[in-house]
Amino acid sequence: MARITASVYTSHVPAIGAALDSGKSGEPYWQKVFAGYDFSKQWMKDNKPDVIFLVYNDHATAFSLEMIPTFAIGTAAEFQPADEGWGPRPVPKVIGHPELAAHIAQSVIQQDFDLTIVNKMDVDHGLTVPLSLMCGQPQAWPCPVIPFAVNVVQYPVPSGRRCLNLGKAIRKAIESYDQPLNVHIWGTGGMSHQLQGPRAGLINREFDNVFLDRMIADPEGQAAVPHIDYVREAGSEGIELVMWLIARGAMADLAGGPTPKVVHRFYHVPASNTAVGHLILEN
Ligand code: DHB
Ligand code: FE
Repeated sequence: MARITASVYTSHVPAIGAALDSGKSGEPYWQKVFAGYDFSKQWMKDNKPDVIFLVYNDHATAFSLEMIPTFAIGTAAEFQPADEGWGPRPVPKVIGHPELAAHIAQSVIQQDFDLTIVNKMDVDHGLTVPLSLMCGQPQAWPCPVIPFAVNVVQYPVPSGRRCLNLGKAIRKAIESYDQPLNVHIWGTGGMSHQLQGPRAGLINREFDNVFLDRMIADPEGQAAVPHIDYVREAGSEGIELVMWLIARGAMADLAGGPTPKVVHRFYHVPASNTAVGHLILEN
């Protein structure tokens, strides 16, 4: 059977992708950000998954105000890096896993979560920047990736409770797949940031660090936090953090298993307009 062996959490700041793609990652400003991922890149090599289930949000790239799926699973064989206005990032195309994705769609929909099935879509910085942070600049990504897009851009957005419960359903789905695959689940986005209006530039270190603590030790408590608290405390784009609860919900402890092992934790301000947060938890 397939097994979820680890979850990875990281911010997805688009300027990180631009820094890498334009050869600026050695600059002192960016060095401080990338230093937090040196451990992670080695860890990815030592713990190479067969598939990554990657929870992220689309930023009006594949979807627009014309169509707003709350939860969308990518079932295609491949996904192209999107053109977000400066041309597509010069990164490898993303190879999907249609069979496992179809199995997850079947199982999760039968567990009463309505997923939108997407057979064709481009993937933006929400998905490609986490891959770059964790894998560097390879010729091809190390394994297939199942994109799972969550609407955190246009209200109403899903609650933390629903995200955590969806993670539990995704765990059941993956662990009922009849192939011995080593699967990682990634939650991306955040941390505190607000990109527009009078509060643009907002960063809340205390909120972010309490959030990291609770992601490790009290995900059920964090799931009870309403979306308005994220917006008030962590800025309008801080709501991206609810996506981390999907990955956290898929960890073994929430299904009666052992507490996950914290293998890496990193927090840094600033990167562009956000705080960068990162965790790796092993089952
Ligand atoms: C920035 C951060 C994001 O998460 C995003 O999607 C776009 C921009 C920023 O820091 O500029
Ligand atoms: Fe974002």
